[in-house]
Amino acid sequence: MYHYIEYGPTDGPRDDQEKYDRFMERIEAGEKIEADDWMPEEYRVALIKLISMHGISEIMGALPEKEWTPKAPTMKRKLGIMAKVQDEMGHGQLLLRVAEDLMKPYGKTRKDLMEDLLSGDLKFHNVFHMPTKTWADAGMVGWLVDGAAIISQTNMLDASYGPYQRALQRICQEEVFHAQHGEAIIMALAEGTEHQRAILQESLNRWWPSLLMFFGPASADTTGSSKQDIMIKYKIRKSNNEELRQAFLDKYLPRVFSLGLTVPDETVHYDEKEERWVYQQPDWDEFKRIIKNKGPRSKERLRLREVAYENNRWVRQALSKEAIGS
Ligand SMILES: [Fe+2]
Ligand SMILES: [Fe+2]
Repeated sequence: MYHYIEYGPTDGPRDDQEKYDRFMERIEAGEKIEADDWMPEEYRVALIKLISMHGISEIMGALPEKEWTPKAPTMKRKLGIMAKVQDEMGHGQLLLRVAEDLMKPYGKTRKDLMEDLLSGDLKFHNVFHMPTKTWADAGMVGWLVDGAAIISQTNMLDASYGPYQRALQRICQEEVFHAQHGEAIIMALAEGTEHQRAILQESLNRWWPSLLMFFGPASADTTGSSKQDIMIKYKIRKSNNEELRQAFLDKYLPRVFSLGLTVPDETVHYDEKEERWVYQQPDWDEFKRIIKNKGPRSKERLRLREVAYENNRWVRQALSKEAIGS
C-alpha cells in the first residue's frame, strides 16, 4: 500500500495557506473543483479513498448478482440481471477513471487499486461480502441494497468535486432502474405462494444487519466519524451516516410493513417526539471484521476477481497504448 503525504491547513506548508483559503472560498461558493485544480492533500486523499472504495464496490457488487443470471427463473429476469451487472461494471470503470486522475500526483494507476484490493489494502462495501442464497436475495439486493446506495449517492449529487459529481448523475439514474428491477422481483414474491413469501421474509431477516451497517457507524467512538466530518466540511456530502440511515428507514420501513413483512428487531419503532427511527445497533465489531475481508464470502469474491483479472489480461494488453500505437 502506498502512503500519501498527509497534511492539512494547519500543519501544511505555510505558502499553501493562501491557496487553501482560496480553495475554501470556492467550496463555500458552491464552485466545482476539477481534476487539474489545486486542492489540499486532505481533500485529495478523502476523494481517492471514497471514490476508489465506491468504484471497486460497484465491481465487487456485480459478482454476487452475476451468480443469479443462470439461475433467474425467467428469460425476462435473466435479461434484467444481465443489464444490471453490465451497468455496475460500467459504474466501476467510470469511477476508477475518476480515482485514477486524482492519483496522478502519486504516480498510481487503476492497476495499483486492483492490487490493493487483492492484497486487502483497499476495502469494498460490507454488503458485497455476504452470500446471495436464494432468488429473494437477488431481489433484496436490487430493492434495498441499491435503494440504500441511491440514498447515499443522491446525497453527493452536488459534490464539490466536478468529475465525481458528473459521474454520479449518470450512476444515480441507472441505480433507479436497479431498484425498480429489485422491487419488481420483491413484489412478485410478496404476491406469490406461501413458500415465496417465506423465502422473502427469510432473506430480509438475513439482510437486515447488513443493511443497517451499510451507512457505517454513527458515533465518534467507532471508525468513520472524522472521515464524515472531512467530507461534510469539503461539501463532498451533505449528511452524516446516521442521517442517511434514518432517511433509508424513513423510505423503506413503511414499504416493508405494507407488504406484510417484518424486520428481525422487535424494538424498531418511530419515535414521534425525537422524529427518528429507533432500532437495535448491529454488531459493529462484526462490521469491522467483514470489511477486513473476514466476511462469509470475502475470500471467494476476491478469488473470483483475481481470476477474472488474470483471464482478462489479454483485453488490457489489446487496449494498451503500446498495442494501439503499434
Ligand atoms: Fe452501481
Ligand atoms: Fe446498482
